[in-house]
Amino acid sequence: MSEYQLSLTVHEDQAALSLAVARQIAKSAKQAIAARGSFSIALAGGDTPRRCYEYLRELPVDWASVQVFFGDERCLPAGEAQRNDTMAYESLLKHVAIPVQNVHRIHAELGAIAAADLYAAELSQIDRLDMVLLGMGEDGHTASLFPGNAATGSLSPVVAVFDAPKPPPERVSLGMSTLNAAHEKLFLITGAGKREPLGRIKQGSLLPAAQIIGAEWHVDRAAWPDEQI
Ligand code: 6PG
Repeated sequence: MSEYQLSLTVHEDQAALSLAVARQIAKSAKQAIAARGSFSIALAGGDTPRRCYEYLRELPVDWASVQVFFGDERCLPAGEAQRNDTMAYESLLKHVAIPVQNVHRIHAELGAIAAADLYAAELSQIDRLDMVLLGMGEDGHTASLFPGNAATGSLSPVVAVFDAPKPPPERVSLGMSTLNAAHEKLFLITGAGKREPLGRIKQGSLLPAAQIIGAEWHVDRAAWPDEQI
């Protein structure tokens, strides 16, 4: 995938990126709720989105009409600090008036296979996600879809992931088809550690993150492998 195919926004730094994406989420939510009465979003895990969620909680969003899903979850005990839903709860969900039934956790504490089956059933209640937020790892993974892992090529809507190189090894992830079916796909990528995989994607490498079609790539200057912006 060359540069011209990327819908790319290079932000000055992580704070600028986080605020811009938070504003875009709020705008998309307002439009979807006005048009269809609801807005469904899958939140990204990892560390990068935290700042965006902190900005988002301060913006005007009709949370009673928002359905929150998760792009992936780590198979750790419920409430464990390293879980993606814990980060989302601490930075966003506990600060906004979202009905508890609107937050669709992945019950990864049950183990990857059982949790994936349960989540596929829960996700089947909606046609497709309005928005998916995504991070990218230094190996080019996104959600919990890692290079060379069997789950990455699966056509299942939700996949059980084993042997993930980023701990914990067992995870649950939305499948590539579910991520690609979303109306809007936004990557949030910051920091010099992401330069190498972004450079490979610029050169056409089909890393898992590059398999997300029609995504908007929000990167900061530190992450983008081009000095000339
Ligand atoms: C996770 C995420 C993973 C994350 C990337 C980037 O469980 O860690 O699902 O896909 O988004 O690894 O992580 P950082 O934002 O922490 O760099």
